[in-house]
Amino acid sequence: MPRPVPRAIFAAVMALAVGGAAAASEIVSPPPPVVWQRESATAAPALTRPTLPRRPPADPDDAAHAALGEALFRAPELLGTVARRSGLSCQACHVEGTTNPQFFIRGLSARPGGLDVTTRLFNRRADDGIANHRDIPSLAGVAATAPYGRAGKFPTLADFTRHAIVDEFDGEEPSPLALEALVLFQRQFDFPANANLDGAGRLSARASAAARRGEAVFARPFPGRPQLSCAACHPPAQAFTDRRRHDVGTGGVFDTASLLGAAATAPYFHDGRAATLAATVAHFDRHYGLGLAEAERADLLAYLAAVGSASARTEPVSLAGELARLDRFKEGLEVAFVARDGVVAVAVVAVLRRELGALYERFPEPAHEPARARLITLSRLLQELATAFETEAWDPAAERLAAYGAEAAALGPALDHDRSAARFARPD
Ligand code: HEC
Ligand code: HEC
Repeated sequence: MPRPVPRAIFAAVMALAVGGAAAASEIVSPPPPVVWQRESATAAPALTRPTLPRRPPADPDDAAHAALGEALFRAPELLGTVARRSGLSCQACHVEGTTNPQFFIRGLSARPGGLDVTTRLFNRRADDGIANHRDIPSLAGVAATAPYGRAGKFPTLADFTRHAIVDEFDGEEPSPLALEALVLFQRQFDFPANANLDGAGRLSARASAAARRGEAVFARPFPGRPQLSCAACHPPAQAFTDRRRHDVGTGGVFDTASLLGAAATAPYFHDGRAATLAATVAHFDRHYGLGLAEAERADLLAYLAAVGSASARTEPVSLAGELARLDRFKEGLEVAFVARDGVVAVAVVAVLRRELGALYERFPEPAHEPARARLITLSRLLQELATAFETEAWDPAAERLAAYGAEAAALGPALDHDRSAARFARPD
């Protein structure tokens, strides 16, 4: 079947937008983009996506700023030339705040799920001269797990976020608004729900007998080291991390990882050297001379699996969910507009246009022609908006923003009407 014409037009419009944004800051011969492995290798739109529970900001006034942060989390525009050209954003590695077990860059990743973040590829100044792979951490519960970075060298989330943008990926210094928004967004990521645990991190009645025996091994002092136990460094009442740095024989001093949700975040340790939770237990057994019996190891493992379990790791992709996110990003865009932050506004527009492009792919049938036409109209409005923001023409921008808002408000009913054979998960 021939491709519908509007799709080609849309692609051209999108390509222009992306190319146009990059061109302004590039010099004569831009470095080539790097190829990285996306979370989904298939071309068809995903019907589920990874998920973490989100805790809304304590102050409801912060919701729009957090929405702005959510959009910026998907913006390669914030990062330096190589990352930008490669389409790398925070979201590429921390998919919806989780990890990306498939992530791989040839020459930079020792194994899937991470990379060396201190090489000259992204930022010359960041090169530490040695190949040191770092496993991508999940951002679950990140508000409560300071300090940050595998080595725990950054006291606040804002410090680390700035470090990621400026040092690791060579982006421009982020505006205070961008940084605040990104921090508010990340602070929303909660630990996955886990019915095996009560509020203080103790096993609930639901846990198995083996896990219960393992809980005792976890709390037991190490032989000849009465101060030391698994629980001393991973206190259950404190999200299983003492928030300190230790040398536990993994090749340096590293931040104690929380064990919540860990069942879903293999491999383990700062560089992913342990493929399974069993391998981490074997490591501690050896390193601290624990002399665990076979049955004790199995019990400890059952406990780690119970503590690390996550009830919902993915959620279905629904039209309602996609529209709600477009809405949030529009709210975020309004925040950038009100703050007259042109750089941030242009980045959010680019994110929104890619979201529309992804939505477009979910309406492939000839019968979806009206849906696609609407998405193109919206994307064109955004393109005009980007031009207004780039030139800091705030009055025309206000007008275009209102036009976009009106058209976007009509999108939901129009697409809902057109849903036959659209590519969404049908939960029932
Ligand atoms: C190419 C993959 C990649 C990208 C892009 C990326 N990160 Fe990371 N992130 C990592 C890796 C690997 C680490 C561990 C690095 C370290 O310890 O220095 C990390 C660590 C973190 C941490 C520390 C978590 C903790 O508990 O210690 C935060 C927060 C974070 N990233 C946020 C971000 C934000 C915000 C962005 C976008 C501005 C971003 N990351 C972009 C791979 C990435
Ligand atoms: C002295 C403090 C300390 C003790 C004792 C300790 N841990 Fe840890 N644990 C850490 C640190 C630090 C890390 C991170 C190491 C790294 O990244 O290389 C870690 C990492 C882990 C991880 C990997 C988490 C991940 O997501 O990568 C697991 C699992 C774990 N510990 C379980 C245990 C168990 C089980 C015990 C008891 C047998 C134990 N720990 C004892 C400090 C400790």
